Amino acid sequence: MSIQPTEVRSNVRPSVRQWIRNGIEVGVFSDADDASRSAANEIATLIRQRAAEGQRCVLGLATGSTPVRVYRELIRLHREEDLSMQNVVTFNLDEYFPIQPNAAQSYVRFMNEQLFDHVDIRRENVHIPDGTVSIESVSEYCHQYESRIEQLGGIDIQLLGIGRTGHIGFNEPGSEQSSTTRLVRLSEITRVDAANDFGGIDNVPRMAITMGVGTILRSRRIRLLAFGEHKSAIVDRAVQGAISHTVPATYLHDHRNVEFLLDEPAASMLTLPETETLAR
Ligand code: F6R
Repeated sequence: MSIQPTEVRSNVRPSVRQWIRNGIEVGVFSDADDASRSAANEIATLIRQRAAEGQRCVLGLATGSTPVRVYRELIRLHREEDLSMQNVVTFNLDEYFPIQPNAAQSYVRFMNEQLFDHVDIRRENVHIPDGTVSIESVSEYCHQYESRIEQLGGIDIQLLGIGRTGHIGFNEPGSEQSSTTRLVRLSEITRVDAANDFGGIDNVPRMAITMGVGTILRSRRIRLLAFGEHKSAIVDRAVQGAISHTVPATYLHDHRNVEFLLDEPAASMLTLPETETLAR
């Protein structure tokens, strides 16, 4: 697809530069804080709009280092600017398998510590894949997770990070575009990247439950954040490469409302055209 200057969706966002490439709106921000504030503001705006209409807002959430600043900003908005999450329903992308929810590395614990313990979300509205289900029942469990998303009207905004393999959620290379929530094997690169958290690679689970690529693509909006020079090579392949199962993030080219929010280092390998700089 050719490169076109983008139409700016809002003129109050602090974006430094924006383009559309291969169907992906790329926003390069001055730093990770700016990018995260932008994502948090978009989420907060939708939560408030839905609340005013008496409707729920369904968020797809990610873990890892990347979204932490977004959660910090949502907590600030809750504390200082009256943002309520009473009408919010959340579905997390993934969880290690097997894992206990109180384990230091579990995504249940991560989400509680990074967001849920600090806002007024109803606990019954929180969904995180359960790393304790038996291997015999995991397939049925995944099917139910998928159905629950549909029953609640689908995901309004899905937050994503990106792994060095190009994974989104834990959809590693080889994942199909139509894949749904399922048990997957983690790649060695992903396990190496998690080794520090687990005190060595031998302790990193070999499997995970993840929403599928198809599940992610059914979200109405997708916002992928990537920060740091170590993400630049995979961001380059995800944005500029051809759609391929070897880099699952390239499947996002087919989505109608997807944006990558990057800092300068993560965007440093993108060969994007010189275009106007947007006013802050
Ligand atoms: C986490 C997830 C993963 C991470 C990715 C990047 O729920 O689904 O795809 O987003 O591995 O991780 P960080 O942000 O730690 O670099």
